[in-house]
Amino acid sequence: MNTAARPRILIARAIFPEVVEKLSQHFEVEANPSDELWPRDELARRLQGKQGVFTTGGERIDAALLAQCPELKICANMAVGYNNFDLAAMTAAGVLGTNAPDVLTETTADMGFALLMAAARRVTESEHFLRAGKWDRWAYDMLIGQDVYGATLGILGMGRIGRAIARRGALGFNMPVIYHNRSRLPAEAEAEVRARYVSKDELLRQSDHLVLVVPYSAESHHAIGAAELAQMKPTATLVNIGRGGVVDDAALAQALLDKRIAAAGLDVFEGEPKLNPALLKCSNVVLTPHIGSATVPTRMAMAGLAADNLIGYLTTGKALTPLNPEVIGQR
Ligand code: GLV
Repeated sequence: MNTAARPRILIARAIFPEVVEKLSQHFEVEANPSDELWPRDELARRLQGKQGVFTTGGERIDAALLAQCPELKICANMAVGYNNFDLAAMTAAGVLGTNAPDVLTETTADMGFALLMAAARRVTESEHFLRAGKWDRWAYDMLIGQDVYGATLGILGMGRIGRAIARRGALGFNMPVIYHNRSRLPAEAEAEVRARYVSKDELLRQSDHLVLVVPYSAESHHAIGAAELAQMKPTATLVNIGRGGVVDDAALAQALLDKRIAAAGLDVFEGEPKLNPALLKCSNVVLTPHIGSATVPTRMAMAGLAADNLIGYLTTGKALTPLNPEVIGQR
């Protein structure tokens, strides 16, 4: 093949070597060998002359960047969430955005359940207690927690991952499931996961365990803040595996310190990878560093899907999971 004619792409952060290799079979590839994000100026500089970019969810793609990269045609995100993309600006610039849905649904739902169980049953707190040498006797109320089996599971955000969590709760743990979402699911979809639609206020008041699976947007910013936490049961647990910023982390830390709610499990944070230091002071919160989709097969599948979007679009004009398909065929 005449390599001079091949499209040029940028891989913006270190990724599986197999995926770099696969992309190299189709493109002239420049790959960031590091898992440090490039600063914006450097990203713009490296995007010069590139038609595609493989992004990992942290690279901000907006009008200012796009104006500097007139040859860019596609940004393929290796994440289901795409709040790093200004999709309107991408559409205006005729640049396709793609994400990586479906392939991470079950893995991320597993993580939601892991955090729910760890928070409700105080798993990490128990381990810290034990490692600190504090376990010297049996006590009837030592590290006593909340039941999961049969408790009411609330879900805010009933997309694919929300439904996978509902299925686990209803079928595996005999949990009545209630949910709130921007739009109500069709009756068959509700029946499939045995979920009942309720208002947001009812969801807050009735959930024993509330799992958030909401994408971040201006609309969802601080959807759970002090007022919402005040409506929850004092025995409730809150799990966030959606996006940082959906929860007001300062208000949550205060509610946890005051034992306003029993516990929380958080995989995502406002301003991550930094987190609100008040959360570190709470013993009743389980904290994980945004690893919801982090299993080898799932991360491989996400990277493979992002790669296939680049290959499809730049070689045949077709993408598997386009976010703004209206740009296809425009240029
Ligand atoms: C992870 O948070 C993702 O959006 O894929």
